[in-house]
Amino acid sequence: MGLESLLNIVYILSAITFILGFKLMSSPVSARRGNIISAIGMGAAIIATFLFPEVVRYQYIVIGMISGSAIGLLFAYRTPMTGMPQMVGLLNGFGGTASLLVAWAEFMAHPHQTYFGGAILWLTAIIGAVTFSGSMVAWAKLEEKFISGKPIMYTGQRYVTMAVLLGIAGLGALFAMNTAAPEATPYLGVITALALILGILLVIPIGGADMPVVICLLNSYSGMAACASGFIVQNNLLIVAGAIVGASGIILTLIMCKAMNRSVANVFLGGFGSGVQASGMEVVGEIKPVKADEAYLMLEAANSVVIVPGYGLAVSQAQHAVRELMEAMEKNGTEVRFAIHPVAGRMPGHMNVLLAEANISYDAMVEMDAVNPTMETVDVCMIIGANDVVNPAAQEDKASPLWGMPIIESHRARTVIVMKRSMGKGFAGVENPLFFRNNTRMLFGDAKASLQALVNEFKGGA
Ligand code: TAP
Repeated sequence: MGLESLLNIVYILSAITFILGFKLMSSPVSARRGNIISAIGMGAAIIATFLFPEVVRYQYIVIGMISGSAIGLLFAYRTPMTGMPQMVGLLNGFGGTASLLVAWAEFMAHPHQTYFGGAILWLTAIIGAVTFSGSMVAWAKLEEKFISGKPIMYTGQRYVTMAVLLGIAGLGALFAMNTAAPEATPYLGVITALALILGILLVIPIGGADMPVVICLLNSYSGMAACASGFIVQNNLLIVAGAIVGASGIILTLIMCKAMNRSVANVFLGGFGSGVQASGMEVVGEIKPVKADEAYLMLEAANSVVIVPGYGLAVSQAQHAVRELMEAMEKNGTEVRFAIHPVAGRMPGHMNVLLAEANISYDAMVEMDAVNPTMETVDVCMIIGANDVVNPAAQEDKASPLWGMPIIESHRARTVIVMKRSMGKGFAGVENPLFFRNNTRMLFGDAKASLQALVNEFKGGA
């Protein structure tokens, strides 16, 4: 068997490990295994590619691997859980840049291209450039560095975007028709510049808090760019891996939009989450604050408790404290479950990852659809740093921006304890009538501090 056939067999096996890995990643229980299997497949593909001296320059690869790994490790260690969306945004941007550079390198090395080759170069360059600049804006918005997290809108926005798109398409046709012509280089240069501008234009109208959805889409773009560059360098595995990333990014984007009851267009036209929307329904009732010792008495007497974690749990890094409380309640004979909303927090699976970090078993986590029918039998529903995902306005107020979004129906529990710092609003920027209900008690303070106070009460009461 020739070396080339061996390489192709390794590539096919690697592609199988990617698909298998994805399948396993669909459940938190098997996700880690899925990740390892895919990583082994990727490792095997890299080693197999190294066997071809004509496709690689070892000295550059070694320099790239050492510097890339050092920067990657530094970023990974320094990024807190709450900074994960920004981190993923940056990485997408790097993926886009790599594809853009591949397109330029191929063009410089082999300017004589077929129409198809020219079109692929054009496509790779634009998707790569849009992914890069869009990801940088997404990162800057999330970090609130250089640019505000608020949506940036101006008159004629759509016309400007359309004009840039038309420019890219027109110049693309001229470029692909004769890539060897002297004017092809400036064409590709202007196309790249316009695509960089397009990435910025597409992301600036979107509110910073909507960025995780955008980042999923940019992730998909980076996959598509990699897939296109796979055609350029004629690497089957890059085509397969890029296509998988492209498709999975789009699927994830759609899942997130569905769980937020928003259309993709609604996210991309921007303006949501800027805190200006008003609910049509007047909030009735009054706030009933409690101290930790009163909340303890409610929990201590409960037979069943459902905990709803949200973004505030991640902000306060209270995952270990909540595990301690869970253990104290279980020791007291209480059944404790965690109800996980699909878009609680700021990234897909945010709560599952956070709780798993504190060694909370997946068996203790229940999905929204499973917990809702049991809610009336729950003695205490304890909401920790969650807001929108438990907002009854989604079911009761047609004028609310949350109307129609599936929620965890905490308001149907016998007693509700809400832990948050103030009456601050959630991501959607709307009032939550749950906080004013008769069966709700507010335990104000940082989630971690409140949880620790409750744990201390349990220790003291034991
Ligand atoms: P949010 O509605 O964002 O509410 C979080 C609450 O946590 C806030 O009201 C805040 O109130 C409280 N909080 C913040 N820091 C805290 C701390 N240190 N201690 C205690 N409480 C704290 O969160 P959610 O219910 O998880 O909903 C998620 C929202 O994000 C949804 O609207 C969803 O559509 C959106 N979203 C989600 C995703 C994904 S994929 N998960 C992506 C994009 C958007 P105080 O300021 O008063 O403390």
